[in-house]
Amino acid sequence: MTPPIERAVIVGAGTMGATLAKLMLAHRLPVRMIDRQASALEACRHEIERTFPDDPAVAGKLDVQTHWSPEGEGSIVIESVTENLTIKRAVIAEAEAHCEPTTLIVTNTSGLSIDAIGQGMRRPERLAGAHFFNPADLVPAVEVIPGAATAQATLHRTCAFLTFLGKRPALLKQSVPGFVANRLQHALMRECLSLLEKGVVDAEALDEIVQFSIGVRLALSGPLLQRDLNGLDTHLNIARYLYEDLEDTHTPSRLLEEYVAQGRLGAKAGQGFYPWDEARIERQKHQSRDSLKRIIAVAMEEKRSGNDGEH
Ligand SMILES: NC(=O)c1ccc[n+]([C@@H]2O[C@H](COP(=O)([O-])OP(=O)(O)OC[C@H]3O[C@@H](n4cnc5c(N)ncnc54)[C@H](O)[C@@H]3O)[C@@H](O)[C@H]2O)c1
Repeated sequence: MTPPIERAVIVGAGTMGATLAKLMLAHRLPVRMIDRQASALEACRHEIERTFPDDPAVAGKLDVQTHWSPEGEGSIVIESVTENLTIKRAVIAEAEAHCEPTTLIVTNTSGLSIDAIGQGMRRPERLAGAHFFNPADLVPAVEVIPGAATAQATLHRTCAFLTFLGKRPALLKQSVPGFVANRLQHALMRECLSLLEKGVVDAEALDEIVQFSIGVRLALSGPLLQRDLNGLDTHLNIARYLYEDLEDTHTPSRLLEEYVAQGRLGAKAGQGFYPWDEARIERQKHQSRDSLKRIIAVAMEEKRSGNDGEH
């Protein structure tokens, strides 16, 4: 298939930037990676060489730079720097200064306002949100988010580009903080942390319940489709007595604040909800990637075969 875009400029060679580069390169798209930190660029190059060991031509399509240079026609800029509004605005301004007026610019923000990121742009109509999920080379869904000024043509081009990459773009009608996925993830985590704080359940049992109940089901269909199958009247009956008891705090949980203050940051710090060492982290990473691929294959097959609740 002819790519709707000829090359990608990815800004930010961190966790997401590296997997975005893998995704583009796997589709034979030349990538220019820009990051202020030379060490991040080197780590990214190393990761790409490791990912495509038998295909040096692929790694050869990656060009890394610490500074911008003029971009010709046919590029897309994917902003994937630190989740900070000031930094993102500065990067978007650099992109506008170095790119052709028609260049598509997307931001991989996890939930900042698209309008706020685009504030000060000369042509805000060419900016859209394209929120990928980690790892971006594997997870199919991408949230596509318009700002108030985003042109319809920008959304069409963004979706066409994502489809070319084998993704499943899902278009929001407007930008809200956290978009859809992070709103849901944080609503779930707020309740999880509240249950831990209240001593209702421990971390192991909570993970066991979520993974092997709603977790396995959600891999096969979305929550609304599931509720349809279950019956909306049943859902309403439960909602009527349950909601007054659910966590509705407007501030992050005390337990989470305490953990972070104590340096319990999760796997990277050796302790979070669970203890971590290098071996466990490596095991988990490899298992997760392979298992994720299998789960995605099953989910895609279900979708293809029409097992979406219509029978
Ligand atoms: N990590 C995830 O799971 C995830 C998932 C989806 C979206 N996101 C979003 O993707 C973006 C990047 O996240 P990440 O996890 O890759 O972050 P990260 O901290 O791993 O990487 C950010 C990179 O941006 C670079 N950077 C900072 N300022 C820069 C500048 N002015 N010019 C060039 N490079 C600059 C940093 O040097 C760093 O290498 C964020 O907006 C984040 O919210 C993250």
